[in-house]
Amino acid sequence: MATAEQIMSLIRSHSDDDDEHFYTIALQIASHEARRGHKEIANEIRDLYKARNQREYKQTCVPEELMDILAIKPADVSLNQLVLHRGIKERIARILREYLEQELLKSYGLSNRRKILLIGPSGTGKSMTAEAIAHTLHLPFIAVQLDLILSRYMGESSAKLHQIFNFIRENRALYLFDEFDTLAAMREGNDIGEMRRVLNTLLVRIEQDASDSIIVAASNMPDSLDKALFRRFDDRICYSLPDPESIGALIHNSTGSFLSAEASIGSLVSKCTNLSCADIVNACHDAVKDSILQGRDSVRPADIERTIFERSRY
Ligand SMILES: Nc1ncnc2c1ncn2[C@@H]1O[C@H](COP(=O)(O)OP(=O)(O)OP(=O)(O)O)[C@@H](O)[C@H]1O
Ligand SMILES: [Mg+2]
Repeated sequence: MATAEQIMSLIRSHSDDDDEHFYTIALQIASHEARRGHKEIANEIRDLYKARNQREYKQTCVPEELMDILAIKPADVSLNQLVLHRGIKERIARILREYLEQELLKSYGLSNRRKILLIGPSGTGKSMTAEAIAHTLHLPFIAVQLDLILSRYMGESSAKLHQIFNFIRENRALYLFDEFDTLAAMREGNDIGEMRRVLNTLLVRIEQDASDSIIVAASNMPDSLDKALFRRFDDRICYSLPDPESIGALIHNSTGSFLSAEASIGSLVSKCTNLSCADIVNACHDAVKDSILQGRDSVRPADIERTIFERSRY
């Protein structure tokens, strides 16, 4: 049962027309009920929230001047599709928990961690993580095409960034600044003065952002990132190539019922040591596709070994 204080907050936010606060309290009540074992009530509240977000998602409308820079994407990936080290999963779970309990934290003068930097090699699940967080929190998933800001709006890129952060403030969503290193990398051979200005504006805007949105920046070139960037983020999560246990999980997950549970994949693991998660997933999908096209309904470890070999030659 919701506390009197929560009911008062609901009524207050309703009369203030403060939708965000209203739903945050509702989610707090859901967490409270779930903790007391009332899973059904908790799920019902979360479903109502989800339905409202789906309506909102449809309404998220990017203005014409930002249409080429902000791309609304579907977020269909769930967290359990991601194969990650336990430490990273815990860090993600903390982001989710703090988001759902943001009002509670606010009442103590604290804010939830919502500016996240993901660093690590290509194909290790950084973009997928951003998508899964958006999916789990039922937030619209919007990719910010930083490279276009620089290539198409040279000379007015600082103004574009201001427009973007105004949009972020007005439209609660998860914003993914992918290939965050673009700014640093493009410094070479470009108008360095302009790059500096853009980078500085970006840093200031990230720092000043007090919206309800989640901002995720991803980079696979941490060395080229300006160190000043790091402290603007509430959390920095480092990804790495998969360890043997993760390799096994990736192979099993991406071959599904095509690989019998008894098949020994031990010898495959050592063949994947320098491959990214994306390479392994793609090699497994290649092997599954070959089997289907050859009219077979199963994949042998040797089939996967061949497609892994093909991929590792690139
Ligand atoms: N940790 C993972 N668990 C499961 N699948 C993964 C993982 N990492 C990558 N994949 C697979 O590889 C694809 C590409 O991954 P993703 O785009 O998240 O990589 P990335 O780290 O963002 O790479 P880049 O730095 O090049 O942008 C995913 O769609 C998924 O199929
Ligand atoms: Mg990516």
